[in-house]
Amino acid sequence: MPRYERIDGADRTFAILVNQTGAPELLYFGPRLSGEADLAQMAAILQPGQRESLPDHPVAPSLCPTNGFGWMGEPAISGVHDDADGAINWSSADVEHTSNGLEVTLRDDRTRLEVRLSYVLDSPTGVLTSRMRLINHGARPFRLHQAMSVCVPLPAWVKEAVSLSGDWSREGQLARIPLSPGLWSQTNRTGRTGFSGSTLMAGEPAASDHAGRLIVIHLAWSGNHQLSIETLASGRRLAMAGAHLAPGEVVLATGASYETPEAHLCLSETGFNGVSDAFHPFVRTRILPDAAGPRAVRRVHFNTWEAAYFDVDETSMKEVAAAAAAVGVERFILDDGWFAGRRSDSSSLGDWRADPVRFRHGLGPLIDAVRALGMDFGLWIEPEMVSPDSDLYRAHPDWCLHAPGAPRPGMRHQLWLDMARGEVRDHIFDQISTLLSGNAITCVKWDCNRFMFPAVSAGAPAAGRVVRGTYDLMDRLRAAHPSVEIESCASGGARMDLAVLKRASRLWPSDATDALERIRIQRSAGLIFPPEIIGAHVGPAPNPITGRHLPMALRARVAMFGHMGVEADPRRLSSEDRDTLSAHIALYKRYRPLLHSGRMLRWRTDDGAEAVISLSRDGGEALCLVCRSDTAPEAEAAPVMIPGLAASASYRITLHEPWPAIASRRLHDPAAWRRGRVISADILSQAGLRLPLSDPMTAWLVHLERV
Ligand code: GLA
Repeated sequence: MPRYERIDGADRTFAILVNQTGAPELLYFGPRLSGEADLAQMAAILQPGQRESLPDHPVAPSLCPTNGFGWMGEPAISGVHDDADGAINWSSADVEHTSNGLEVTLRDDRTRLEVRLSYVLDSPTGVLTSRMRLINHGARPFRLHQAMSVCVPLPAWVKEAVSLSGDWSREGQLARIPLSPGLWSQTNRTGRTGFSGSTLMAGEPAASDHAGRLIVIHLAWSGNHQLSIETLASGRRLAMAGAHLAPGEVVLATGASYETPEAHLCLSETGFNGVSDAFHPFVRTRILPDAAGPRAVRRVHFNTWEAAYFDVDETSMKEVAAAAAAVGVERFILDDGWFAGRRSDSSSLGDWRADPVRFRHGLGPLIDAVRALGMDFGLWIEPEMVSPDSDLYRAHPDWCLHAPGAPRPGMRHQLWLDMARGEVRDHIFDQISTLLSGNAITCVKWDCNRFMFPAVSAGAPAAGRVVRGTYDLMDRLRAAHPSVEIESCASGGARMDLAVLKRASRLWPSDATDALERIRIQRSAGLIFPPEIIGAHVGPAPNPITGRHLPMALRARVAMFGHMGVEADPRRLSSEDRDTLSAHIALYKRYRPLLHSGRMLRWRTDDGAEAVISLSRDGGEALCLVCRSDTAPEAEAAPVMIPGLAASASYRITLHEPWPAIASRRLHDPAAWRRGRVISADILSQAGLRLPLSDPMTAWLVHLERV
């Protein structure tokens, strides 16, 4: 007899059945079903009839398909015992209810493999967390080839995959891929989360910012992984996500187990904004470390990278710090270049002590100066790396990942330390811990600037163990220094995921600080991550990566919609730009409680301007940014419809100044805007607000306050 089990959240139901062959199937994941819903009847009416040219027994897509007994698609688990055949067939399935979750235990009596699938539904947000544990009870070692964190059949309305691929300084390029029979997959072998991230979306072709259905899977893992959708000949589609394993990477001795990373799944019925509506509160309440949770005040950062690159010393950094404090910065972060002999990217990683020439008396005098200016102090480190030209490498040449007897190819002239080895982690822990104990440091920017190759430790493939070693190091440092925050960076946005975010308070999404690039990058990152953890800095003009000269108001306004910071050298700004910057830092501080707890919606206006709004949870206030990068084809911009306001309320609207210079000449009745207008929510959402938005690089900042 099939069995049926369900878990319900506030708005979602997750239901499974264990079929007559003992395989668990997803019966339903969608809007909450009534308590009376008859799951057996549901299964009966959804059951396809038997067709020609198929196995004699029904082989439905299970939650953990394996090959060998009629399932011809991708397996969620595959592997082989030494001297055995590799065919896996679940002979029994037990289901247990856990706290708002289900745990399904599958056993194969022949191979003596056991799998525990765990599903937990976060009731308020509807995000489902899935993971799997595989235990080898067999007498021989089991060589695991594939173990997915989640495997789910997709609804029939899914017609396309939506990926967020990227590269250095080009993170978050959204691409829609129509699905056709076969396997679509995004495999990451870089050893980090990767520039393309670890989020897979699948949806209706019509899914837009505000409308349409999407299934989203985020894999919480900072290493190699595979996200895939397979379309079978029958038309059924399955999505899978899990760590990518190299051959021989996981070999389970008798009694040993492998636990996958967690995958988080949500269904949106309101397009891309529905995805962030689920994930932002989930991240705020379930993922972020307490100290980085919703009550944390995100101080305005100044980061020295684009202001000075490697050229940092005590005297010049004290000057920069004074200029940064004068524009309102609250935290000064000394980026690369501060440690033992580091003058470029070619040396010194691993020697985590202040450079004796540039910081003759250590970091203390600079930190004291920064604190005297009312700021706190943060420091850049890259703990997992070693330069061949370093004392650490000279003392321990075999502490890096390497294949014995093979060359040690560099990337950015550096090698990856073997974080799978306890003694290596202990050494780095001691160095960083000493640095944190001896100096008043409140945050570290934890960087990771190369791909992991060869991912070999002690002569065996080890990519996953190295990632887990890094988590262990982060956890130990956090335990020893609980007040120190971690910002996760990897050549920009190559380590942004919900596993690192259990340890970090902030993510650096890209080295591109160009505001026009940032609109796209923050939009993509903002699907999963709430704005307060996405570092957003005001860069210099011309921008060092794109060469664009963008107005300060645009740069500052875009940065306000993340965790705001500055990288442009404040000493070199014109006095007008400095004033504009400090005015926007003041605005950021004023609106920070709203921006960092509100509901954030993004959309493209009817004529292609980019808009983002942060709405307070009680509907009392909102801050909206509308900007355009290029010249619009038509001179008269389309009205901007403002979503998410409290129906039947009216709002006092302020168009924050400075208004975009050229555009503001075409603003109708500017005096009336200056006096202030009160407009009802239905007019704002249905008729819209006509802002002059046809010129390039135009950014309007609109504040709405309920009256
Ligand atoms: C990486 C980071 C940058 C900066 C440099 C320093 O590229 O993404 O922000 O910290 O390293 O070398």
